[in-house]
Amino acid sequence: MTLKDIIAQSIRDNNGAIGFDAFMDLALYTPALGYYRRGETIFGEQGDFITAPETSDLFGYCMAKQCEPIISGGGNILEFGAGTGILAAQILFELARLDSLPRQYYILELSGQLQQKQKETISRVLPELIERVEWLSELPSDFSGVVIANEVLDAMPAKRVCYRKGEFFELTVAIEQDSFQWRAQDKPFNSPLTPLPSVCVEGYTTEVNQQALAWIDSLYQTMKDGLVLLVDYGMARSEYHHEQRTEGTLRCYYQHKASDNPFENIGQQDITTSVNFSDVAEQALDSGFTIAGYCTQAMFLISLGIDQYLLDEKDLERRSILAQQVKQLVLPSAMGESFKVLALTKKQPVKLDGFKEQNLVNKL
Ligand SMILES: C[S@@+](CC[C@H](N)C(=O)[O-])C[C@H]1O[C@@H](n2cnc3c(N)ncnc32)[C@H](O)[C@@H]1O
Repeated sequence: MTLKDIIAQSIRDNNGAIGFDAFMDLALYTPALGYYRRGETIFGEQGDFITAPETSDLFGYCMAKQCEPIISGGGNILEFGAGTGILAAQILFELARLDSLPRQYYILELSGQLQQKQKETISRVLPELIERVEWLSELPSDFSGVVIANEVLDAMPAKRVCYRKGEFFELTVAIEQDSFQWRAQDKPFNSPLTPLPSVCVEGYTTEVNQQALAWIDSLYQTMKDGLVLLVDYGMARSEYHHEQRTEGTLRCYYQHKASDNPFENIGQQDITTSVNFSDVAEQALDSGFTIAGYCTQAMFLISLGIDQYLLDEKDLERRSILAQQVKQLVLPSAMGESFKVLALTKKQPVKLDGFKEQNLVNKL
């Protein structure tokens, strides 16, 4: 059966329509066929998109600096959706240099193929530290330390909703003449945890990520204490629901080309939605977390001294390569402002250096 057949079957089994979250889940995570489960190169220049740790080691080094005070107090690290494993390698490398290695670096990765890739990367770059890395299949109970999720929330399946005649309706996925189509539900969509604009233009479409909120809550329930660092492209609710963003934030990436059509290249293209950081922060507060910081990726990296790594590099050729990478991470025209960092803490009073230069918590 092809992935398209599997999705079509699911639509038939569910009276002719499934939520876009169910479609996205099948397209990305169906074993052996979903985009993240195929085992092909999806990250980097040969793949479909480049993430911050794939852009520069300095991203991981700065993350390590933010983890250090909590690790030195005895905490471990838990990384979700670790991609190629490069961020884990960067963080462990820098923590070793700072003489502050965690006893354990846990990775929770849904894709068996990516787990394999992560093992290869870490064994190749840091063979002496591979013993500290442990792959988990579920949230650990009583975790204490730092949880990291870089570009994970945006990969969690979201629902799509559309404004018609004064109310929002869920846009589901149906199949007609062998092709997938959007179909609006008859009953208005109601989701108290994810407030939607009260008035907007006819046809205004946006996304609601209930799975991400459920994930935040389960994280709080299973964590004993520590810090959660969420890095992703996204914005506060006022910008997320900007009146001009009439088509929402759904984006697909195939060989570095962006499109807004999730019904093509199924299983071959990434599907993402931007993160509504206000929804995430409100859920985090409801669950019991403290919001410890929110800022742009650029200001987070600058606060943690990304420029110092450049100055410390004495080899001029290498320094100029690093300078290009830093530009990519911090310039507003690249990843600097569209990516944000949200820090949540549970029973963890350490002051976070990453928000020294900017803290936009009041904008959430
Ligand atoms: C865009 S990739 C980011 C990879 C990596 N963090 C990086 O920055 O290069 C999204 C990752 O999130 C993972 N993912 C999505 N939902 C997840 C969940 N609920 N738990 C763990 N991983 C998840 C995917 O399997 C994939 O590895």
